[in-house]
Amino acid sequence: MSEEVKKFKVTIDGQTTEVLPGTSILEAARQIGGKSVPPAMCYYSKLESSGGRCRTCLVEVSKGSEADPRPMPKLVASCRTSVMDGMEVKDLTSEKAQEGRKAVTEFLLINHPLDCPICDQAGECHLQDLGYEHGNPETRYEFDRRTFDADDIGPYIKLNMNRCILCARCVLLANQLTEKREHGILYRGDHAEISTMLNKALDNDFIGNVIDVCPVGALTDRTARFASRVWFTKPYNATCSCTKCSGKAVLWMKGDEVIRVTARKNQYDEVEDWICNECRFEKKNPALWNIEGPRHIDRHSVISLNHYEKNTDSYNVLDNPDAKEIGVADEQQIKKLDNEII
Ligand code: SF4
Ligand code: FES
Repeated sequence: MSEEVKKFKVTIDGQTTEVLPGTSILEAARQIGGKSVPPAMCYYSKLESSGGRCRTCLVEVSKGSEADPRPMPKLVASCRTSVMDGMEVKDLTSEKAQEGRKAVTEFLLINHPLDCPICDQAGECHLQDLGYEHGNPETRYEFDRRTFDADDIGPYIKLNMNRCILCARCVLLANQLTEKREHGILYRGDHAEISTMLNKALDNDFIGNVIDVCPVGALTDRTARFASRVWFTKPYNATCSCTKCSGKAVLWMKGDEVIRVTARKNQYDEVEDWICNECRFEKKNPALWNIEGPRHIDRHSVISLNHYEKNTDSYNVLDNPDAKEIGVADEQQIKKLDNEII
């Protein structure tokens, strides 16, 4: 008979939940949800061994456990610290944790240019959100910033290394999803940078997903660069029949034009299903997609500020048998959806 695993009780900002042993504080906070979930710039639940690199998820552990109630002496990275039974954690309620996050934000911005007005990631950038919430109005840094020229790494992806925060998500993704990783973090310390060896191109079938996991604008879609600010486009859930991936994507549209295609992401901005390069970069014709209806964007950032949708039920074009065929997303259908969106 299998023994039931005893769950651990953890309290975060006064809210208690029970989780399996081995769960990180960050995942426990996500289980509770709401504003006490620490931000995460490098942790990505779908990427093995991610986390522990950016320190934006710092929290204060005010009680270690029921067995040893002493507080932890320093702030800890919540993505890499496992809960103990009876643990008490402070995030929003901790001045120390908020100060720590402010310091980390300042550190991350030492070399990061404030080029949000021209950066394609603006409006959905985690560093922009952090800077807005915790950033200092002035820099205290006296040295020159590291600068790099923008680089085309393959036919579809642009690397702006000066925006990179070295979270390593793109490297872990390539390890996990592609047969042969062609890029990585070269050099060490202040010289560390993302690069391909000998200027190789990234052209694996699923490599476009690095764009979706990059928390800043260091990796952007060359087929959509400077095409539109993200808040002027409207996201639609769409599907297509694809032999390589699930074919479930989000089309970011302006009128009846597909500006870019991305994977679908959850409220923590993590991809639900990886999509292939063909769906992401090659299928810019709406007729190749079956458009289900407006995508609900469930995260606090500029992209979620507009009202993109009314009542999603009324957009379920899949109820229409004709809509199950690829190619139904004709101009008329898009105009109809467009008119109904606020
Ligand atoms: S390019 Fe983006 S995903 Fe890759 S390490 Fe830099 S910030 Fe992270
Ligand atoms: S998200 Fe925890 S250290 Fe980066």
